[in-house]
Amino acid sequence: MARPEFHELTVSSVRRLTDESVAVRFEVPVSLAPAYEFIPGQYLTLRTTINGEDVRRSYSICSGVGEALEVGIKQLQGGLFSTFAQNLAVGDTLQVMTPQGNFNAAIGGHHHYILISAGSGITPCLSIASSVLAMEPQSIVTLVYGNRTTSSIMFRQDVNDLKDFYTTRFVCINVLSREKQDAECLNGRIDGLKINALAEQKLLNLDHCDGVYICGPSAMVDDVKNALGSDVPVHTELFTTGDVLEVKTESRIAIDSDALAVRIIIDGAEREVMMNPQSETVLAAAQKAGLDLPFSCAGGMCCTCRCKVVSGKTAMDMNFSLAEWEVEAGFTLACQTRPLDNSVLLDFDEF
Ligand code: FES
Repeated sequence: MARPEFHELTVSSVRRLTDESVAVRFEVPVSLAPAYEFIPGQYLTLRTTINGEDVRRSYSICSGVGEALEVGIKQLQGGLFSTFAQNLAVGDTLQVMTPQGNFNAAIGGHHHYILISAGSGITPCLSIASSVLAMEPQSIVTLVYGNRTTSSIMFRQDVNDLKDFYTTRFVCINVLSREKQDAECLNGRIDGLKINALAEQKLLNLDHCDGVYICGPSAMVDDVKNALGSDVPVHTELFTTGDVLEVKTESRIAIDSDALAVRIIIDGAEREVMMNPQSETVLAAAQKAGLDLPFSCAGGMCCTCRCKVVSGKTAMDMNFSLAEWEVEAGFTLACQTRPLDNSVLLDFDEF
């Protein structure tokens, strides 16, 4: 995993997908092309200034490997960036972080993947589906896609194009919660019961599946994951829209001290930051001290602030993005990390 960095990119196209969502494409200069190569399922963090405020939000890449870099952005009620993005136009520029994220499908070989998404959770799934279908001529993809109504379906045309092009290798099962369809099992919300019902009706083949990828709201992701059990490899991604995150600053961990020193290595230089671990995270303290650490969601979901604990004891408030092996290898999320002693050294240069 390369260290994330921002570059200024120009918007090369804006497609309206629904009344409340757009797909925004970026022009990547040849000199930056290697930095923006992505694995299907990864996301970009976009950064701009809105009303004098530095705003960053993460959006999954929707394009397939080899296609132009594009993200899908759904407007959220009161969402600062997602509302701003609805009015982006060709020629506008944004700071765009290099691709990040661990919600990835291995490409190469012969697979049957099941993708389960709701609403804007389609974006990484669309990237995985189009990449797998294009690059693995034998592979099969089944998409279960939940929405309120037909008119609210993001990337409806793109999904239909995949169905038309890969008639025998791609199936999309649309589940609608506010528009009645003939088959009862296609009505309602996606949850564990729904997935089992689709499997019982032979619409989903969970027995011969190399991986299930789930992206959507946490309640759906957790319920489906629990229903699937451990027989199938399951990969999950929560929405990483900072617009809806409540950023916690009070620690839920019992920490004795209210003043600890944390040493931070970034770009080869070491800095020491004094912080109160009871009331602030490492990221918050470093920002106060003027350090420009990489971050996006500040809510434990995107993994952009990943760094290695070289020494000392630390604890995380929440972790929705680091895999078990990463935690075991000593990685932590700076936006969730509190030092527990005075010898903590965090390295942002170690991947
Ligand atoms: S900034 Fe997203 S997990 Fe820390």
